[in-house]
Amino acid sequence: MFEKIPNNVNLSENKRLQRALEQWQPNFIRWWMEMGPEGFQQDEVYLRTAISVDSNGWAQFDYVKMPDYRWGIFLVPAEPDRKIHFGDHIGEPVWNDVPGEFRKELRRIIVTQGDTEPASVEQQRLLGHTTPSLYDLRNLFQVNVEEGRHLWAMVYLLHQFFGRDGREEAEDLLTRRSGHKDTPRILEAFNKPVRDWLAFFAFTMFTDRDGKYQLAALAESAFDPLARSTKFMLTEEAHHLFVGETGIARIVKRTAELMKLSPNEDVTELGGIPLDIIQKYINEWFSASLDLFGSEDSSNAATFFGAGLKGRYREAERYSDHLALEGSYKLEVPDENGHLVERSIPLRRAMNIQLQDAYIEDCERALRRWNEILEKAGLSYRLKLPSQRFNRRIGVFSSHYFTPEGKIISESEFKSRSNQWLPTQEDYAYVSSLMTPVYERGKIANWIAPPTRGINQKPIDFEYVRR
Ligand SMILES: [Fe+2]
Ligand SMILES: [Fe+2]
Repeated sequence: MFEKIPNNVNLSENKRLQRALEQWQPNFIRWWMEMGPEGFQQDEVYLRTAISVDSNGWAQFDYVKMPDYRWGIFLVPAEPDRKIHFGDHIGEPVWNDVPGEFRKELRRIIVTQGDTEPASVEQQRLLGHTTPSLYDLRNLFQVNVEEGRHLWAMVYLLHQFFGRDGREEAEDLLTRRSGHKDTPRILEAFNKPVRDWLAFFAFTMFTDRDGKYQLAALAESAFDPLARSTKFMLTEEAHHLFVGETGIARIVKRTAELMKLSPNEDVTELGGIPLDIIQKYINEWFSASLDLFGSEDSSNAATFFGAGLKGRYREAERYSDHLALEGSYKLEVPDENGHLVERSIPLRRAMNIQLQDAYIEDCERALRRWNEILEKAGLSYRLKLPSQRFNRRIGVFSSHYFTPEGKIISESEFKSRSNQWLPTQEDYAYVSSLMTPVYERGKIANWIAPPTRGINQKPIDFEYVRR
């Protein structure tokens, strides 16, 4: 069985780890069959599989049935003499084992990250039935199998470094279910339904992108196996973000084309997705994804940084003060009377929002690209990110209501206007009415433009999924 698991952790010589994984693997497959992509498990999908971490081994493309996918365990090679480069232990050698004093925190960090991976597979499991093309179907499944591999990456750490507790946590990762009322996934955005392909692209654009920043923060970690695991996960994550960003870009492009064809720019007559519905999905998924960063002012974040468990985005390159003991982060927050007042958050307690700032910058860049498409089409409508205060459930803004521009408003005003800002049942129903599957080679649904190129230099009309 272990020849089937590509790895660079010497699995064949690690009897204890083998035994633990031997028990876990059949449960993983059972979970995959039950909660993985429904209705496509016997199809041949043109997928990339990582069989090593070097450049010609990490992206091997071939047809594979998803249950036969070779989920592997990969860490980027250890950097010799790597030192902790931030926090209270700066300058000390990195840890190759879990220090007893941070065991609880590290376990929590790994479990929380690990839980998002199967959750997203569960959220996306029905989307194959409404795919706009074989190209998109293949991308969906690529994302799904790699989220499965990311689960393996976290389960490896639990099994290898956390003993019995780790084994129990690894089982629980297969037991919780996205959106389940008794045993939900840990984080809210991973319990939200992903109903249609616009939601899928918004999810991979905004929610997977939160994942990128969390992984990047963990790639700085003093716990070296975690840093090395997450670094390799980031190479795969890049494709998920590409799927989301270009997916929305292709919808915007198609909508712009249809607006030109319609005398009153009403694309619903022509089966397109109106820009204001796209904007509402952006509002929904951007705000839900900001919640994943945790509170703007957080003592946990300070502990994680001080201990060296979790750094900032590109800690070494982007920052010069790696202690963060002095200085503060200024943020306008609402007081008891509902007035925005400036608050100074001690820098270490403001790690979540610093990570979020890097994320928002990245999102802004994608928005500029989408707006270039509208500009080129000669349209005046522009998509925008809502204020970070808008529609929050976690953090300093969650106790008040705000417009997408960030203006504080009453609860009743928010409720009466939210149908302009967030998708309504009618919006969901309209979008889902467009979602009829296209399984013919080279064909594409009417509501989205074709991609500009295929996968792995294959043509766009390649048979990405053999049904
Ligand atoms: Fe992932
Ligand atoms: Fe992902």
